[in-house]
Amino acid sequence: MRILVAGGAGFIGSHFTEAAFPAWPSAKITVLDKLTYAGVRSNLDSLSRNRRFRFVKGSITNRPLVKKLLKETDLLVNFAAETHVDRSLLWAGAFLETDVMGTFNLLEVARELRTVRRIVLMSTDEVYGPVMHGEARESSRLDPSSPYSASKASGDLLALAYARSFGLPVVIPRACNIYGPRQFPEKFIPLFAINALLGRPLPLYGDGKQKREWMHVSDAVRGVIAVARRGKTGEIYNIGTADRRPNIEVARRIVRSAGAPESLIHPVKDRPGHDRRYAVTASKLRRAGWKPLVKFPDGLDSTVRWYRDHPEWWKPLLAREEKYFRLQYSGRRGR
Ligand code: DAU
Repeated sequence: MRILVAGGAGFIGSHFTEAAFPAWPSAKITVLDKLTYAGVRSNLDSLSRNRRFRFVKGSITNRPLVKKLLKETDLLVNFAAETHVDRSLLWAGAFLETDVMGTFNLLEVARELRTVRRIVLMSTDEVYGPVMHGEARESSRLDPSSPYSASKASGDLLALAYARSFGLPVVIPRACNIYGPRQFPEKFIPLFAINALLGRPLPLYGDGKQKREWMHVSDAVRGVIAVARRGKTGEIYNIGTADRRPNIEVARRIVRSAGAPESLIHPVKDRPGHDRRYAVTASKLRRAGWKPLVKFPDGLDSTVRWYRDHPEWWKPLLAREEKYFRLQYSGRRGR
C-alpha cells in the first residue's frame, strides 16, 4: 500500500498523516506539501525517523510532479487547499488556483494513469451555505457564501463529475468546524486562545450569535480514515458532531480556560457574507461505524493548554503573517 497525502504539513493533514501510520501498518506514506503560510514542516517532526515516511515539497497544481507521485500511489488523500474564509474575501485568486485547479489537476492525472485505487478529497460543510434550521444532508443543495466555499464546492462538483463520467474512485468527506493543536492561528479558536493567553483583545465578529458545529481534529481524522476505507465511490460523507454553539459561548469558554478576563472579548465589525449557522447530519458515516469521541469542553481545554505550552510553534507564525493580521483587524474596532 502506497499513500500520498497532499497538504500533509497543514493542520488536519499532519494529524491525518500521523494517524495513517498505525491505521495502515505496512503502508509507505508520502506527504506532498507546498509549504504555503499554513504548511509547517515541523508539524511532521514526529515522523522524521520513520522509514516508511517521505516528504516532497511541491504543489498539487504541478502536473509533472503529481504525475510522478501518483504513478506510485494506491490511495490519494487531499488536504491541500486554501481554507480561510477571511483571506478569500481579501484575495480569491489563490483559492481558485489551489482548490479548483489543484483538484482538477489531481483528477486529470488520476484519470490519465488509472492506477490510483482510491481518491479522498477533503471538503467542508461550508459548501451548503447557512443552514438556518435542521441539518444539511449530503444531498442538500450547495449554496456557498464566500469565495473559499464556492471554490471548494466547485472542486467537489468536478470530482463527482469525474466519478460519474470516468469511473474515477473518488470519495468526498465534508467536515464541520475542526479544532485542536497545530491549527493555524488565523482561525477562531487558536486566535482567541493565543490572544487570551497574551492578554490581547479577542475580536468577536458581529453579535457573536453565529453558530458553528465543533469537532476535535482526532475525531475528524478518524472520520476521514473511515471514509477512505468504507466510503462508496462517487459518494459524499458528512463528518460532524451535532455539537453546535454560538461563537460568544466558545469565546467565553476560551477566556475561562486561559485564565483571562471576559472583558477581553471585543465585538468588532462583522465578516461580509457571514454564515449564521452550520449544521450537518453525519448519520451516513455513523452507519458505517464512525462516531466522534471527544467532548467539546474537554477538547477545548486541552487545545488551549497546547497553545499555552507551545509558544515556540505559534510565535514565529504570527510574526511572519503580521501583515495579514494588520490588514484583517486594524480599523475593525466596534460593531
Ligand atoms: O465549517 C468548516 C469550515 O470551518 C472550514 O471549511 C474552514 O476551512 C474553516 O476555516 C472554518 O470556517 P469558519 O469561517 O467557520 O472558521 P473561522 O475559524 O474563520 O471562524 C469561526 C467562527 O468565528 C465564524 O463564525 C467567524 C468567527 N470569528 C472568526 C475569526 C477568525 C470571529 O468572530 N472572529 C475572528 O477573528
